Amino acid sequence: MCDDSVHQPIAVATAPGKFILTGEHAVVYGTPAIACPVAGVHAKAQVYPSDTEGIAVDAVDINTKIRTSIDLDHPISLATNNLLQHFEIEKAPALHVKLSSTIPIAAGLGSGAAITTALIKGLTQAMDLQLSTAELSSQVYEIEKLFHGTPSGIDNTVIAYAQSVWFIRDEALEPINTVSQFDILIADTGVASETMTAVAGVRERYTKAPSQYRAYFDAITELGHQARTHIENGHITALGPILSKNHVLLQNIGVSSSELNTLVDAATNAGALGAKLSGGGVGGNMIALVEPNTISSVTTALFNAGATRVIHTQVS
Ligand code: PMV
Repeated sequence: MCDDSVHQPIAVATAPGKFILTGEHAVVYGTPAIACPVAGVHAKAQVYPSDTEGIAVDAVDINTKIRTSIDLDHPISLATNNLLQHFEIEKAPALHVKLSSTIPIAAGLGSGAAITTALIKGLTQAMDLQLSTAELSSQVYEIEKLFHGTPSGIDNTVIAYAQSVWFIRDEALEPINTVSQFDILIADTGVASETMTAVAGVRERYTKAPSQYRAYFDAITELGHQARTHIENGHITALGPILSKNHVLLQNIGVSSSELNTLVDAATNAGALGAKLSGGGVGGNMIALVEPNTISSVTTALFNAGATRVIHTQVS
């Protein structure tokens, strides 16, 4: 392997984190959801030429080195080998990839999808291959399935496109045109939660009461349409109550928790325009829509209410 300290990377690619603004869970049943990139955190792939045959990936944050022709079951190898297969490349070029990420892991911010996205983008650039964003997204989806069973595909889509999206499962995405940027705080309850388990719980309750759950999903769909209209018209204040109503519906479908509810209440009491859990729920993250002058007070209120981390992001 070359000494990277004396080499410039031949390709550098990044991918943002993500959060879900409206429509999680219902999206699994074919309804629309809105997801946005988190620009302040990202995964990064730096690709260098190497003296050693094949592709070696150094996942620096987890101190793991992967040789993609040997560690065949590793998700990094699967992503790399799927890419080579896609382009019918039989012999992997000699490359060394440094993969790093500032996206908190297992926090519903899409860190896994972002790492895979950065890796694939970096490799395609280094090998001078042309991969459309739709193809990139579907390659990342293949790896997401290994971790999340049958994900809706929202994470890979918003991260590959790196822009706010109106997402409906198995349909072409629609980019959302944000007229006025808005501020979101993403707070972590510190309670670990598996999206797959939360999704399975909803499935079980849905099977027992399909018409009731359909009604919840319809109400979430309606809120999604309203949210999109407000974003596209720059009516950010009107977006707040929609998020809060979406949270109540997520409570109804059984994916909130006392910790999430406490953070949602703390944010709204401290002046957030609206707040809701975001992503799989049960634990994990919530989001609060804030105006610039309440960022600091709502952040403090979230920490005081037990948040273990608060990230501020601007959606533009
Ligand atoms: O846990 P996250 O942030 O990756 O979000 C999952 C979103 C769900 O709608 C709950 C599941 C899915 O596959 O869309």
